[in-house]
Amino acid sequence: MSQRRLLVTAALPYANGPIHIGHLVEYLQTDIWVRFQKLRGHQCLYICADDTHGTAIMIRAQQEGRDEESMIADMREAHVRDFTGFDIEFDNYGSTNSDENRRLCATIWQAIRESGLVHEAEITQLYDTVAGTFLADRFVKGTCPFCQLPGQYGDSCDNGHHYTPVELIDPISTLSGSTPEPRQAKHLFVKIEELHEFLEEWTQSDDHLQTEVANYLKGHFLHEPLRDWDISRPAPYFGFEIPDSPGNYWYVWFDAPIGYIASTQQWCDQHGESLDDWWRSETCEIHHFIGKDITYFHTLFWPAMLKTAGFELPTRVHIHGFLTVDGEKMSKSKGTFVPASNYLKHLDPAYLRYYYASKLTSRVDDLDLNLEEFVTKVNSDLVGKVVNLASRTARFVGQTGLSEAYPDDGGLFAEAAGQADAIAQAYETCDYNRAMRLIMALADQANPYVESQQPWELRKDPEQAGRLQDVCTVALNLFRQLAIYLAPVLPRLAHQTGELLGQPITDWQQAQTPLIGTPVAKFTHMLKRVEPSQVEAMISDSREETAMNSETETPVFNDSAEPLAAEPLAEECTFDDFVKVDLRVARVVEAAEVPEARKLLQLTLSLGGDERRTVFAGIKAAYEPSELVGRLVVCVANLAPRKMKFGTSEAMVVASGPGGNEVFLLSPDEGAVPGQRVH
Ligand code: 2FM
Repeated sequence: MSQRRLLVTAALPYANGPIHIGHLVEYLQTDIWVRFQKLRGHQCLYICADDTHGTAIMIRAQQEGRDEESMIADMREAHVRDFTGFDIEFDNYGSTNSDENRRLCATIWQAIRESGLVHEAEITQLYDTVAGTFLADRFVKGTCPFCQLPGQYGDSCDNGHHYTPVELIDPISTLSGSTPEPRQAKHLFVKIEELHEFLEEWTQSDDHLQTEVANYLKGHFLHEPLRDWDISRPAPYFGFEIPDSPGNYWYVWFDAPIGYIASTQQWCDQHGESLDDWWRSETCEIHHFIGKDITYFHTLFWPAMLKTAGFELPTRVHIHGFLTVDGEKMSKSKGTFVPASNYLKHLDPAYLRYYYASKLTSRVDDLDLNLEEFVTKVNSDLVGKVVNLASRTARFVGQTGLSEAYPDDGGLFAEAAGQADAIAQAYETCDYNRAMRLIMALADQANPYVESQQPWELRKDPEQAGRLQDVCTVALNLFRQLAIYLAPVLPRLAHQTGELLGQPITDWQQAQTPLIGTPVAKFTHMLKRVEPSQVEAMISDSREETAMNSETETPVFNDSAEPLAAEPLAEECTFDDFVKVDLRVARVVEAAEVPEARKLLQLTLSLGGDERRTVFAGIKAAYEPSELVGRLVVCVANLAPRKMKFGTSEAMVVASGPGGNEVFLLSPDEGAVPGQRVH
């Protein structure tokens, strides 16, 4: 097998927030791939950096009352600490706010200018007069101009329509909650359409992209002329000022991917290597790992930039889906938005490395972290099937070491050795799910061997000492094979195995030859079982952290104008009109479904003492009866009773929302008591 040279990157994390378990899908997926390539003897670099520029970082620094440089320095430290905690090993971790990056941006920019691809135009952008800044797409929300979906960001909606923020209906700045105003400013654009033919060819050929991604690009972007790319932002903006356009800065998405090259440059400078051997060499493979949300930048703009500036194009862009937890989007209030540092307070990183590996395939599908499955999978696979092989045998050969010749194991070692190529192929194609299944199938063959040989019984009989040594030699060699195959995923286990058996795991080929006649070190604990209570503690910590942070964070209001437009204000009323409506605090004491009615729940409200009201409320789609019992609500207590098919409704509970499952009951603050009037 000839040695390959591979340059591998994971997307550069923004320096405006900590790493969380969602980010880790990608950094772990990439780390596993890089470790695999290194184990196979290839020369492989894992390059990353912090993505430090842009409005979000500028705003956060402002909110914290500090300069951007000190904020990004702190964030970098936190990121590196978290990555290290998860055994994610970069060959270089740079920053887009580096001299190397500034120089490379200037070089690439010059090439783009010289190719005649840049033009200038005055454009209208949304300007937040309260925050004093033009608004990046992600800082505006409003209604999609194509499908009227409310609450959408300034660049695209959840239904996949793309537009500019100015096109949004009823835009609101998420920075200040104010309505931004359109203002004109000069911007620089790249005429990416001139590279259409090249992009069509590159995206659709040579396995550069997963098939579903190539098809998506064809269907969504390449079927029509590509829009010019707005590559500059006027001051104030935290980034690099464009040398030949004072007062304008490169948009963060220009300098961010160039950060891949800049970080490689740093590595080259430290190792006496030439950048051209990595970024301008036909023999070096370039692999980017990214999430599906940034496909557009990496498969259209980035290849266009590289091509224009004479760099090599990516060999492949590997795209993964998002993380869900227990089938839902990660949620701060549910505690499933878990910061990496919080995970590490409670759980071993090996658990997550293995769990993600067992779920990752080569497709773009989302990955679900099912917390219950997480516990059972780790315990049954890693502890029950893998580590157990060593923990049940290693101490019996501490004195003798392994047998001098490899004993007859009924073909188990040879069979596992024969699986090396299939497992390697699964890693190579990022189908880690398949790799883990193949490895666990081998563990499933090794365990019955130990069960049937019962070394714990053999050790009681001195006459069986030879057999005991043979059985343990087989078990430990089968264990070591698994540890080699799992080494990209579980580097600590590989290290421990090397220490136990006196030979470090450094090469995939080691799985082909059993160890014989070598000493066995004292067995020390390798991996603990995970307890559900540890997972619960992590979730509850994350929930609490969110609650604490939300008390100190500057609130961001992003209310849509949609509800008011849908239901305009009623005609003015007098105070006397208002007091005619007797609103009272009430407690729901009973709640039940009305079986014959599609929308209704029957509620019994207490207004204090014995005062009761029966209410039929159209809230069945939004609430379970059980979650209502005991809850305080506000009711219209003097509403004339209304006879209905199922009984008489004697009051009304107050709620907002358009109906269906979007009904929101109003609750008084804590301290209110049933019967109190609402003024
Ligand atoms: O989406 C993100 O988190 C970006 N910070 C990724 C940048 S990747 C590369 F282009 F720099």
